[in-house]
Amino acid sequence: MQVATLANETDFDGWRQAARRFRAAGVRPEAASFRVGAGEGGLFDDVAPVGEAGPQFPVPRAFVELAENVILHRSADRFDLLYRLLWRLEREPDLMRVVSDRDVADAMERAKNVNRASHKMKAFVRFRLAEAEGEEHWISWFEPAHRVVEKTAPFFARRFSTMRWSILTPDGSAFWDTERLTFGPAATRDMAPAEDEIEDFWKTYYASTFNPARLKTKTMQGEMPKRYWANLPEAALIPELVAAANGRAAAMVAAPAPEPNPRLAKTLSRMGRDHAFEEGFVPSSLEELGHAVQACRRCPLWRDATQGVCGQGPKAAKLMIVGEQPGDQEDLAGQPFVGPAGQVLDAALSETGIDRDDVFVTNAVKHFKHEPRGKRRIHRTPAASEISACRWWLNAERALVKPKVILTLGSTAALGVLGRKVAVTQERGQPLALPDATALLTVHPSYLLRIPDREAAETERERFVADLKAVHRLL
Ligand code: URA
Repeated sequence: MQVATLANETDFDGWRQAARRFRAAGVRPEAASFRVGAGEGGLFDDVAPVGEAGPQFPVPRAFVELAENVILHRSADRFDLLYRLLWRLEREPDLMRVVSDRDVADAMERAKNVNRASHKMKAFVRFRLAEAEGEEHWISWFEPAHRVVEKTAPFFARRFSTMRWSILTPDGSAFWDTERLTFGPAATRDMAPAEDEIEDFWKTYYASTFNPARLKTKTMQGEMPKRYWANLPEAALIPELVAAANGRAAAMVAAPAPEPNPRLAKTLSRMGRDHAFEEGFVPSSLEELGHAVQACRRCPLWRDATQGVCGQGPKAAKLMIVGEQPGDQEDLAGQPFVGPAGQVLDAALSETGIDRDDVFVTNAVKHFKHEPRGKRRIHRTPAASEISACRWWLNAERALVKPKVILTLGSTAALGVLGRKVAVTQERGQPLALPDATALLTVHPSYLLRIPDREAAETERERFVADLKAVHRLL
């Protein structure tokens, strides 16, 4: 038996070097073994030196991506499985496409479990507030199903970029100091604070979102497996809430149906959006709507956003301006149009003589859709299905504010407001009669920021201001 020693449980580079050496030396999978740490020896016949890497050979990218995840799986034989696949790839170059192959299917299943553990970590890490050297420090204790701390920590660095935090786990810890992400040794539960006052707040919120009439214990345990309950403050409430669910649901059924806000109901049904009442909820004020959007699960965009960002402005504004979706800065600030596009919009509004404080400014989509690139979060255009899912909120805002004029910025906003696909360049600047308001379409201010040629950019900016002036006249 040839044995390679890896530095730690997730030492992918070490495994790769060792596997290369084994392969170069013709060591068959049955004769290769991997262990972690120095160990005592004695279990293996022969220990292969794994100092230098053997010669390199190309392996499919799909294999490398799969292996990077499989190595994080807690199973003891994962290194062997990966080496067996690598060995076979030399003779069966298309192996990774044979998803029915036992080894391939096994590796894919393990990678899936790892990704699921990473997803659960994103959902179930709960920070508690502590103080270190006079500064706020947020600490979480978490027990992931697989060794996903390093894989998942960058998500928290992006999401909570302005907080100092540590995530402690039995496998290792991650620390973010608002600039740098570092990793440290394994921790124990007692290193994390036991409780903080935010917990009560969180529990109250959880209890208020718990709907006894929709209780499906099996689904709930699938989504929130019991293994995570020990570290979830809200889990302490679950047995009690579940026990009381039948009684509460019966009381709900017996109680007369609450009247939806009649003003809102009338406007929404005029707009043909009766399905807004599914789940029986109708926000009766902008404040309520702003809270409720934080629990929105109409599409998956909530998962990667910091928060839902609703519109801002007077509740009886005559003008509503609708953008696409919150950007990076808006996602963090919780306010629409506070970043670079917002500055272009503000400048154009003041040139037109419209006071932004008189305008209700919002977006067609309430959560920031993006993808990570290095440390940055890159904007991604929302899909038609996401825009359509979010129309419920936009319509609720329209019904509450009742603007006389709605200005849409760009095609996502136009689709959100009109409910149909629109060529903005063709329909731009012409007033369109809607059941509840007059709409005017124009381009998005970020488009103006992207025009490289200065003269062309100035011409476009003037057209944008002209569209705002047309809005001003309609008001
Ligand atoms: N772009 C938008 O469409 N909306 C914002 O809130 C910010 C940038």
